[in-house]
Amino acid sequence: HILDGVKPLSTPLKNDRFLRALRREPVDCTPVWLMRQAGRYLPEYRATRKAAGSFLGMAKNPEIACEVTLQPLRRFPLDAAILFSDILTVPDAMGLGLYFVEGEGPKFERPLRSVADIDQLAVPDMGSSLRYVMDAVSLIRRELDGAVPLIGFSGSPWTLACYMVEGGGSKDWGKVKALALNEPAAMHKLLSVVTDAVIAYLSAQHAAGAQALQVFDTWGGTLGPAMYREFSLPYLTRIAAALKALGVPVILFGKGNAPHLDALFTSGADAIGVDWTVTLEDAARRNGGRVALQGNMDPAMLYGSPDAVRAQARAVLDSYRDGNGGSREGHVFNLGHGMSPDMNPDHVAALVDEVHAYSAR
Ligand code: CP3
Repeated sequence: HILDGVKPLSTPLKNDRFLRALRREPVDCTPVWLMRQAGRYLPEYRATRKAAGSFLGMAKNPEIACEVTLQPLRRFPLDAAILFSDILTVPDAMGLGLYFVEGEGPKFERPLRSVADIDQLAVPDMGSSLRYVMDAVSLIRRELDGAVPLIGFSGSPWTLACYMVEGGGSKDWGKVKALALNEPAAMHKLLSVVTDAVIAYLSAQHAAGAQALQVFDTWGGTLGPAMYREFSLPYLTRIAAALKALGVPVILFGKGNAPHLDALFTSGADAIGVDWTVTLEDAARRNGGRVALQGNMDPAMLYGSPDAVRAQARAVLDSYRDGNGGSREGHVFNLGHGMSPDMNPDHVAALVDEVHAYSAR
């Protein structure tokens, strides 16, 4: 086995400003990483994918997953690496059969179609069906050799349930919302078993070497306030509480979570990731220094010229500072959502450079 004889690493970090910012400690400049920093916008990613054949083939091969994780770090002085994988590996390991159709995104061969399907779900064994993820984490830690911390991740229970019930992406998430409305007990049973799986999955990633953990609640913002408080928030809180015992920092990212920030600030997470529909000034004011904030430049700003990208980066940095009592502490710079395949790597270079240079002043 590729990892036989590999000991757990205790190499000291050469760059710990991301972990320091998550603890709201002073930093020499604001740390930056980008959601989907590995992906099709990089020619070297497209070349690796062509040779590997498929996205899932890449994610399930620890050596390829490691290579692709490191690709953006070779180009840009990013302050964290994020495991190359997908949130849908967990339902895949629960037996739903994940596959990708070119241009259509993720699909499941066996989506949940009945309450009986939900009753049959169980937490997958991390040592067998998800072993490839833990192997990738360990290998990436070894290859990083302390350069920057490694982020592990998972989908949120609500977001995973969305795909498990719909069988793929959806415009309105009608099936999963109907289930929540018509069969709330079954919905809670589903969210509960997925929460147990997420906690086991993130704990195993931490044990394998992940130094911070992010939960992606990509579709929580599609819920109205009452349904968000019933079907997403309590499960995020359960995850944060369970991981607290491990002492690993946890970031809760939610697309469209601005209406729920006050609840999220007391969820037990170390950091909250926000999109660009809220100013960081407003979010930081409401936070009042309780947790770290991650975000939140509109990813589409990367379509602007490098000079425009730099100006946008400065505006995001200053917005945080203005809401945080004049201090940049407790800010991890990121986009408000993931990068797209048609973005220009040169603009990413300008962004990362500007975040570091401007915040160091
Ligand atoms: O941030 C990173 O660089 C880490 C890698 C990562 C991927 N997916 C790689 C990926 C992460 C963190 C994810 C999470 C993920 N996957 C989410 C939550 C984050 C978000 O964007 O809100 C969701 C909703 C998914 C499900 C998923 N997987 C979708 C919607 C897609 C896109 C399908 C498409 O054709 O664009 C994927 C595939 C996927 N995951 C790609 C990558 C790089 C594209 C793969 C390819 O075609 O090469």
